[in-house]
Amino acid sequence: MKISRCTNSRIQTTDFKNLKFGTVFSDHMLICRYEYGKWGEVEIRPYGPIEMNPGTQILHYGQAVFEGMKAFKNDKDEVLVFRKEENFKRLNKSAIRLSIPEIPRDVFMNGLNNLLSLDSQWCSKEEGYSLYIRPFIFASGECIKASSSEEFTFIIITSPTTKYYPGEINVVIEEHYTRAARGGVGSVKAAGNYAASFYPTKQANAKGFQQVIWTDAEHHKFIEESGTMNIWFRIGDKLITPSLSDSILGGITRDSVITLAKDNGIVVEERRILVSEIIQSYNNGNLKESFGTGTAVAVTPINSITFKEERITIPSQKDSFAIMLKKQLQGIQKGKIDDKYNWNSLVS
Ligand SMILES: Cc1ncc(COP(=O)(O)O)c(C=O)c1O
Repeated sequence: MKISRCTNSRIQTTDFKNLKFGTVFSDHMLICRYEYGKWGEVEIRPYGPIEMNPGTQILHYGQAVFEGMKAFKNDKDEVLVFRKEENFKRLNKSAIRLSIPEIPRDVFMNGLNNLLSLDSQWCSKEEGYSLYIRPFIFASGECIKASSSEEFTFIIITSPTTKYYPGEINVVIEEHYTRAARGGVGSVKAAGNYAASFYPTKQANAKGFQQVIWTDAEHHKFIEESGTMNIWFRIGDKLITPSLSDSILGGITRDSVITLAKDNGIVVEERRILVSEIIQSYNNGNLKESFGTGTAVAVTPINSITFKEERITIPSQKDSFAIMLKKQLQGIQKGKIDDKYNWNSLVS
């Protein structure tokens, strides 16, 4: 691995008190190119521009996939990466679906370890802080024929971060636009999934909603997910989340929360959920909570859900499952609670 260190770190001039999610980047990045049928040497170098010609394939056909994961610093100043194995697997699952060659394990794991070790200062120990990690792969061949590229670039950048949504989360059920369809790419992290979600999300934002709840492409009757979060409902004392399908992203936070909830003796159901069931549960007083889960937000309560013109305001609970599960999840991530599931790995 080739490592070139930056000579002028930006850390002293970074305002950690006013971090806007995803806008500040650590000093270094990892880069590895795929050419002539194989991944080449891994290089870590100062964060900076990457050159490309206008004919580069990613710019035309969006052949790109990415991941989102986090590292946390514990009280002993050690950097803990949360469930990196799961992100590695999901990145390669996404790569296969987008006709991108898989990243070898040692490129990802050793590269990530070296990168995080070099930029460990960017992972703040303060409560609420973490280092967001963004691995991504894109088509870097130069050709404007609509076909799979034969050259790719894998990059990892990192970004110091605090809370994602500063305020309330009010969401609206989307009945016209679709995030993902059966047989499509909704269950992987293809860049284009996000591009296609921005227009409907912007329209929802203009009406005062932070996010939309995506529904099934065919009938818009079943709940799928919300923005970049998997969605949950507490009906009575059961937790319900949509079962995974090829139009829902299998969140790693979702999987972690299922494990934690079950260990707390909560009944978890993974199944299809009709929008009408949520409305009915609210009307008969059984809808006690709703929340979203994802790497960026951890576990975030949803304050209201709007369907057609009706706004359901979700009461806050004294014994909130969302708050309890968030505490446990973040406690494990920060190394404060025993990591009995072996979810963390130490950067060495
Ligand atoms: C569409 C979508 N759903 C759900 C999630 C939550 O996944 P995870 O918990 O792995 O971050 C994300 C974020 O990665 C996402 O982009």
